[in-house]
Amino acid sequence: MTNWNVVGKVSDFAMGSAKAIDLNGETICLVRNKNGFHAISDACSHGAVSLSEGSVTDEGIECFLHGSEFNLQTGEPKTPPATSAVDVFAVQVDGDGDNAVVSVRI
Ligand code: FES
Repeated sequence: MTNWNVVGKVSDFAMGSAKAIDLNGETICLVRNKNGFHAISDACSHGAVSLSEGSVTDEGIECFLHGSEFNLQTGEPKTPPATSAVDVFAVQVDGDGDNAVVSVRI
């Protein structure tokens, strides 16, 4: 069963940043970019390193180890060497401005 889990306020996450968060036994990578908030599995599907240590782009996140970029909407790798998608989780923002509450469904 999945539940919404509060992960913080909008102001807790800098624009263009990624943060690893442990939720219900899973580590997710919470990303804030110009398109909003996104949550994907933190483990790269190629080498299982932390995606939250990679670089956030306008459309994805690039793994720091070998450079695969993952689509934040689908979890699919856009570039090699990764060939498998990572899990994607729904994100909801309740409220307005910096005090709005960010939740992830997992
Ligand atoms: S470990 Fe992420 S691309 Fe290789």
